[in-house]
Amino acid sequence: MTINTYEFRKGIYMISVNDLRTRLFESLWDIPEGIAYNAYLIIDERTVLIDGVKGIYSEVLIGEVKKLLGGRGLDYYVVHHGEPDHSGSFPKLIKEYPNVKVITTEVGFKIIRSLYPVSFNHITVSDGYELIIGNRKLKFFQTPWLHWPDTFMTYLYGDKILFSGDAFGSYGALTNGLWDKDYGDLHLSLSKRYFANIVAAFRSHVPKAINKLSGYEIDLIAPAHGPLVGKVSDAVNTYLRWSKPELERKVLIIYGSMYGNLEEAVKHVAKGVEEVDVDAVVMKVPDTPITYLVRELFDSPAIVLGIPTYDGSAFPYISLVLNLMKIKRFEGRYVGIVSSGLWSAVAESKVMKDLDEVKATVDGKVSILGHPKGDDITKLVDLGRSLGRRAAEVVSKQ
Ligand code: FEO
Repeated sequence: MTINTYEFRKGIYMISVNDLRTRLFESLWDIPEGIAYNAYLIIDERTVLIDGVKGIYSEVLIGEVKKLLGGRGLDYYVVHHGEPDHSGSFPKLIKEYPNVKVITTEVGFKIIRSLYPVSFNHITVSDGYELIIGNRKLKFFQTPWLHWPDTFMTYLYGDKILFSGDAFGSYGALTNGLWDKDYGDLHLSLSKRYFANIVAAFRSHVPKAINKLSGYEIDLIAPAHGPLVGKVSDAVNTYLRWSKPELERKVLIIYGSMYGNLEEAVKHVAKGVEEVDVDAVVMKVPDTPITYLVRELFDSPAIVLGIPTYDGSAFPYISLVLNLMKIKRFEGRYVGIVSSGLWSAVAESKVMKDLDEVKATVDGKVSILGHPKGDDITKLVDLGRSLGRRAAEVVSKQ
């Protein structure tokens, strides 16, 4: 764990804790780059803490807050969203500052109460509620489902800062600077994977939130994860594109292979995809962590599933992929199927219901017994070409 404390505007501090020890964020998503939990402190006639950190880092946050307050009390504590990667420090903060007024939405209040059996002073904010804290004024915007129902954001007039909670956040510990520009293209890449993993299921709510904020000039965005965002219009436009989502010219090939036969088969599919000048992204399950699978599923217009038959059903990790597509609402994609087996290849028939549920269009199926050979190879290359053409067509019409 390392901590960055940074006065990025006079009297406005970022307190960011780098977590390099959590392997799976939300117990699901691999984060080899680590993650930062960002809290913010505004010191004016009144003092305001915005968000917190994961519970194990409570003392670190409280130590920094106390140091910066220099003996003053904490007047307000804004809890944008109840997920414990931010609210974990809530009970210890309340113990340290028992008179603080906690600011949440109505739903947020219920979530915090359900998580932490402590009493506290509380203000429920409605959409557009304003709070004067001395020379500064805050405004609260409800932005539900980005990515929980309790979510809201805080706008600071004058300094023109949007404290955005999880939205506009990214994976990655802040070890190389505290601004988006310090990370170049890596920031976009980590933001996109974070968006695909965490926000994408509720992406239809992005334009509503951005619309709500449209009348307000924003000089910088201060998210709850990742660096401060100085390139505000780029970030907003990128979020709007991702909310559609913008699909890329590629075919994603996800396959399982117990003994290498299906692995060999998908090489021919990839060859077909590349023959029509489209990128083939090939990922094996379960070897590829789901953070990367979901990142690629998010913006692939065409997907090929390589499915071994296992105990008369589909290889379980492919079922997981389909379940992730459902959960994340990755709908309306073209799908090709390669099913394999040794005495019968029935996997394909076991996934049709799942594909229906994600409104997929099945663009071709190849069934193989054992190692691919003869006609199999021609059919596999053809399948790749067909899916490649579909991907190119989708992207050209966006
Ligand atoms: Fe970073 Fe949804 O909490």
